Amino acid sequence: MRLTYTAYNEDKIIPLYSGVAVGSIKDRLSNIDFDKVVIITDSNADNLWGKTLLDELKGIKKEVFVIKPGESSKSFNQYQSLCSDILNKEITKKTVIIAFGGGVVGNIAGFVAGTLFRGIRFVHIPTTIMSQADSTTGGKQAINTMHGKNTIGMFYEPEFILIDYSFLKTLPEREVRSGIAECIKHALCQDEKLLRKLEKGKEYVSFQEIIQRTIYLKLRTIKRDRKEINEGKVLVYGHTIGHAVEILSRGTLNHGEAVSIGMCCAATLSNRLGLLSFENKKRHYRVLRKWNLPTEIPQHIKVEEIIDRLHYDKKVKDSDIEMILLRDVGKVYKKKGRVGLPINEDVLKKSLKLCYKKDE
Ligand SMILES: NC(=O)c1ccc[n+]([C@@H]2O[C@H](COP(=O)([O-])OP(=O)(O)OC[C@H]3O[C@@H](n4cnc5c(N)ncnc54)[C@H](O)[C@@H]3O)[C@@H](O)[C@H]2O)c1
Ligand SMILES: [Zn+2]
Repeated sequence: MRLTYTAYNEDKIIPLYSGVAVGSIKDRLSNIDFDKVVIITDSNADNLWGKTLLDELKGIKKEVFVIKPGESSKSFNQYQSLCSDILNKEITKKTVIIAFGGGVVGNIAGFVAGTLFRGIRFVHIPTTIMSQADSTTGGKQAINTMHGKNTIGMFYEPEFILIDYSFLKTLPEREVRSGIAECIKHALCQDEKLLRKLEKGKEYVSFQEIIQRTIYLKLRTIKRDRKEINEGKVLVYGHTIGHAVEILSRGTLNHGEAVSIGMCCAATLSNRLGLLSFENKKRHYRVLRKWNLPTEIPQHIKVEEIIDRLHYDKKVKDSDIEMILLRDVGKVYKKKGRVGLPINEDVLKKSLKLCYKKDE
């Protein structure tokens, strides 16, 4: 039972139990005055690990709500039906929600918790690399709408985050890669040493070590700029194009895969602008390919669609598009102290056209 790191929030310090068995959940909950728990999970996490969690919660009053796996569940409809199903049970302001699953479950359960009765307490038990290393830290909760990813949401912090690495034993390869993409993002932006580890490939890394370091990097950034006003924007490196490509792929790319492509697009642009060396651009492609992550925009997604999507996401037409760029591995490019460079649409288009090529 180790408290490895402490997550930050404006009002309180959140315990983050990393490398701790789910068996300690009852102990952790005993610090909270609650009447019952509501578990929100998806059918994969439930089938694989639901019984393990339920066994640990013996003697505690509980309700379980299982949603469909995948990004499509981060929807308004799903949010609405979860809220009414939960409200149909006897819950009170003392009820605690347990978000048990990957980033999708964490994001929607956190949003439900933050809005039910204007906010009831919740805890995260993340079960994917993506959610253990990244999405549960920082308190960003959200659902998607037709207007884009995470368009409705808030900052709302859990009581604690309990990370048990044994859940990763059942994680499919594709989901491992997706989570690692987000760790590679943190390494590229902030930690060359971590990047060197990741460059060795799966056989040579410890997921625990990578996850713990990624959490540390994310917490360090959040402490400086939680609302991503300037320095905190490194957290969304690769996400500008990534989110557009993720949506336009219509479910064929998952979040990490789309961010992987987005980081290659950012590196290509930065190199064309003379900010990032050719070698460092190649380093992006090499490390992502080492983990079998996609590095090119799929042919069926057209540059014009991406640009339209970017304007749509930002609610502006015909204006420059802000891109987060690196000037070196571990160093974000700043202009007059500001992270994020406005890029002219034509310049971006030309650069994106190079991101379809097979041989970079
Ligand atoms: N809020 C944030 O700061 C933040 C940061 C990064 C990502 N995200 C969000 O997180 C989401 C992606 O998270 P994700 O990659 O965890 O996706 P996910 O929640 O869809 O999980 C991926 C898949 O793994 C399955 N799964 C979960 N745990 C498993 C286990 N232990 N064994 C086997 N299968 C398991 C899930 O059912 C799902 O099919 C996206 O919606 C993204 O926007 C949010
Ligand atoms: Zn992300």
